[in-house]
Amino acid sequence: MDTDVAEPAPTPEPPLFEGHPRMRAIRSIIESIADTDTTVLIRGESGVGKDLVARAIHSASARAKGLFVKVNCAAIPQELLESELFGHEKGAFTGALRRKPGQFEFANQGTIYLDEIGELPLALQAKLLHVLQDFQFTRVGGHAPIDVDARVIAATNRDLEEAMARGEFREDLYYRLNVVEIQVPPLRERREEIPALAAWFLSKFNAQYGRQKTLSPETLVLLTEHPWSGNVRELENMIRRMVVLADGERNFEAQATRVRLPQATVAPLPKQSVSESLREIARRGAREAERHALAEVLERVRWNRAEASRILKVSYKTLLNKIAECELTAPVRRLS
Ligand SMILES: Nc1ncnc2c1ncn2[C@@H]1O[C@H](COP(=O)(O)OP(=O)(O)OP(=O)(O)O)[C@@H](O)[C@H]1O
Ligand SMILES: [Mg+2]
Repeated sequence: MDTDVAEPAPTPEPPLFEGHPRMRAIRSIIESIADTDTTVLIRGESGVGKDLVARAIHSASARAKGLFVKVNCAAIPQELLESELFGHEKGAFTGALRRKPGQFEFANQGTIYLDEIGELPLALQAKLLHVLQDFQFTRVGGHAPIDVDARVIAATNRDLEEAMARGEFREDLYYRLNVVEIQVPPLRERREEIPALAAWFLSKFNAQYGRQKTLSPETLVLLTEHPWSGNVRELENMIRRMVVLADGERNFEAQATRVRLPQATVAPLPKQSVSESLREIARRGAREAERHALAEVLERVRWNRAEASRILKVSYKTLLNKIAECELTAPVRRLS
């Protein structure tokens, strides 16, 4: 990474919905629903940009002057969620010392963005359905119906169809929310966008941290090939590290090469496989796939093994054994 560049690169426009046909398709959906109040369900893996899409819908709509209110249904304890969304009356429960309006009231004439809608408890799903149908709700502990005029945008990275099949998500709510569905593709399926995104983050962080760093052509190639299981958020954080840390770019190159290793070993089938039994070939393939997945998750969580074991749904001990079996080693990091 070169720090001696005299002139900072010109700041590019944020590369939203520009660099890939699927993102341009999303932009045209946003434009076509701008003057409607339809509910929208945004789907996609964590870090793909669902929040940005939701904000873009709000900004393009006639409600842009109203508030954009975001509620993360997974981040608020279930027993508080109803009051958070719909408010409560004084004395509704222990600790309800005064009347409190809910987020739906703040979103009046604006947009309410319900993130991680798949985590909404069944009882609240019924209440939300009621709001979507009747544009009315009652506060917790209250009886008077309150009118609401808010556009609802929901987002999830969960498989709602599977949740429905398990009885954890109401079918009627699913269809009510899903009037327009926007699927934001993972970054690995729109790699063409990576150079523009990298340039955008680079100029943003150079300005933020008073640096003038540039990316070498080799790094750019590695960036476009990286798996990015954490999607745009992971890319953003990586570029931030490259800008902030003296050897951030070298660290990434070392890490990217390591992540690519398992792929390289998967690709060509060695000669001896001709004489291998099908079972042995399958077993080896599974081992390589496991190694690849393990390396990818570990990189994503920056080698936080406890978090990796949670994501992979194995015990901490099993994870350590797997790491040793797959001969994976943590990259050396100066700062964490
Ligand atoms: N096209 C883009 N241009 C610039 N920044 C982007 C773009 N897409 C995503 N980002 C950035 O990546 C980060 C993750 O995006 P966002 O929070 O919208 O993802 P998400 O899909 O809502 O993730 P989660 O499921 O974890 O909530 C944010 O900091 C966002 O600003
Ligand atoms: Mg989000």
